[in-house]
Amino acid sequence: MSENPAKPAFGTALCALEEIANPGGKGFVFREGDALFSGFVLREGAEVRGYVDSCPHAGWPLASGPDRYLTRDNRFILCSGHGALFLKGTGECISGPCFGEHLTRWPVTVVRGIVRAG
Ligand code: FES
Repeated sequence: MSENPAKPAFGTALCALEEIANPGGKGFVFREGDALFSGFVLREGAEVRGYVDSCPHAGWPLASGPDRYLTRDNRFILCSGHGALFLKGTGECISGPCFGEHLTRWPVTVVRGIVRAG
């Protein structure tokens, strides 16, 4: 399968680290022609982790509202579609209709306080 042309290039600045709730998440959408790329970044202190915003169950975006990727207690990633729960560290589904499947990683990094596609 070929790479999504809308996926931001390596090094593309996404936002300042401080713009992401701690702990929390932030969603990003990029468009290139007809192609669309949706991803989100989770923050825990100085650590960030990115995933493609597409649930392995039905391919829906996960958030129930702007940047609402986590459960109320911030322990898990929640898909608002049918309530699947995912581990923040690995993206593994531990409860729900896609049990055992994984979110797709979107590599991101922080360089001098700026979150970048990596
Ligand atoms: S689309 Fe995510 S649980 Fe169904």
